Amino acid sequence: MTQELTSPSPAPQAPGTGRGPGWWRDAVIYQVYVRSFADSDGDGIGDLRGARERLPYLKDLGVDAVWLTPFYASPQADGGYDVADYRAVDPLFGTLQDADELIRAAHDLGLRVIVDIVPNHTSDRHPWFQDPELARQRYLFRPGKGESGELPPNDWESVFGGPAWTRTDRGDWYLHLFAPEQPDLNWDNPEVHAEFEAIMRFWLDLGVDGFRVDVAHGMIKAPGLPDIGHGAQAQLIGAQMLPFFDQDGVHAIHRAWRRLLDGYGDARGKQVIGVAEAWAPTAERLALYVRPDELHQAFNFQFLNAPWQSDALRSVIDASLAATASVGAPTTWVLSNHDVVRHTTRLGGSLARARAATLLMLALPGSAYLYQGEELGLPEVTDLPDEVRQDPAFFRGGRATGAVGPGTDTESAPDGAAAGGQDGFRDGCRVPLPWSGELPPYGFGPGGSWLPQPADWGGLTVAAQTGDPASTLELYRAALELRRRLPGLGDGPMSWAPAPDGVLAFTRPGLLCTVNTLGHDVGLPAPGTPLLSSAPVTVDDATAQLPGDSCTWWAI
Ligand code: GLC
Repeated sequence: MTQELTSPSPAPQAPGTGRGPGWWRDAVIYQVYVRSFADSDGDGIGDLRGARERLPYLKDLGVDAVWLTPFYASPQADGGYDVADYRAVDPLFGTLQDADELIRAAHDLGLRVIVDIVPNHTSDRHPWFQDPELARQRYLFRPGKGESGELPPNDWESVFGGPAWTRTDRGDWYLHLFAPEQPDLNWDNPEVHAEFEAIMRFWLDLGVDGFRVDVAHGMIKAPGLPDIGHGAQAQLIGAQMLPFFDQDGVHAIHRAWRRLLDGYGDARGKQVIGVAEAWAPTAERLALYVRPDELHQAFNFQFLNAPWQSDALRSVIDASLAATASVGAPTTWVLSNHDVVRHTTRLGGSLARARAATLLMLALPGSAYLYQGEELGLPEVTDLPDEVRQDPAFFRGGRATGAVGPGTDTESAPDGAAAGGQDGFRDGCRVPLPWSGELPPYGFGPGGSWLPQPADWGGLTVAAQTGDPASTLELYRAALELRRRLPGLGDGPMSWAPAPDGVLAFTRPGLLCTVNTLGHDVGLPAPGTPLLSSAPVTVDDATAQLPGDSCTWWAI
């Protein structure tokens, strides 16, 4: 008999949800990039009210929590990662009351809410930086080199390009690992520690369930701020030790925050978490951020950067699981975010690979983050005109923060398809979401959209994909529904199973996952009954045909 599967078959109902202790250990968390998610007031910029109105969509998608990118008062020199007031909502995005209502509405739907905290730097419009006396104590000012201090204090480069130092009109220099509008804080000053703990309490009191810690590897710099000795530093981030990233001293900060989070949660009978955005050179160094007394999660960028090859994927999965297991933490998988080329495009311009990669990710033990729009299979927009671009890296000649390492899989791009984004900058993954209709702004809001949406996104809208079993949106919905229902998914054991070259196979309790990374069909003895597949899989008598670039979940 031939069985063809394009949509999910009914899965056995399992008792309970399979959650271990700690909701975050296997949560699926959806990243809302607020300015591009949904616009309620027609200014073309997404806002908190728009996000609140769309929460039922996220509930229906099947995620456990939402991470909101910064919506705080900010001059927007870096999409809100330049914060001028950590306790105020920028009028672009709404009011504090809107934030409060959003958090309550999410909780009413059973969704947790994580917000960003940006501790490495503030905006140069922050009152601390505006006051020369305070600034000198709370930021990293140094005299310049050269006869009259006309040269920067060291050779560090900004992640966005150019020197990491800017000279003030008083003649001294301040450090900014990112844009000049983002001066780095001085974490040797206890007032900085106290302020960030107070900011966390402010948002915890509003009900948030955790923090995504921006540049969690950056707050502490090597003593003496030593020269590095060569250029192109941005490309070394995450690949080797640098005196401004992943210094051991950052861990004391994370330990203090864990005490705060645990204390706060214990007092209220809830678990509030921290997730590290940390670019560390190895899985072992990354695991240090999730030791039992540090943060709960750390994005696994090594997995994100892995090429679409079975050996490479297997070794990054093994290294990640071993490293996190050694500290008793789950692994936190991610394929896309607002800093990197969307994975449909990054994996060789192939939606088939992107769908397969997602099912692979969701079958692995641990937690997973989804980036808005990946559930629609959105590609990177690679033809934005220069005049609409806003990524500060574009204006400084640098690269995206996240676009480091071997992330752009040009070598294995099928048919020579363009694999990268637009010169490695980050606007192309931030184009506002298409919700409905045939024309821009596709229901994003009553006005336009701050970045132009492609004319051919009518077939990719939420409305167009809903109810179509072959759509990427329905694939995500089915996968998340199975993940909730099957106790073998989420946290727990996995082991590799034998598989032909180019194919990965692994078991979870009651399940087997196959991933065919080759561009053509592979036949193998049917390992069980197909539950869900990223592409139509056929089972003929006892032989399964795995389509090229596909992932299938099997009940065993
Ligand atoms: C993180 C953010 C990125 C931002 C940078 C500086 O990498 O994800 O968007 O530009 O930090 O805050």
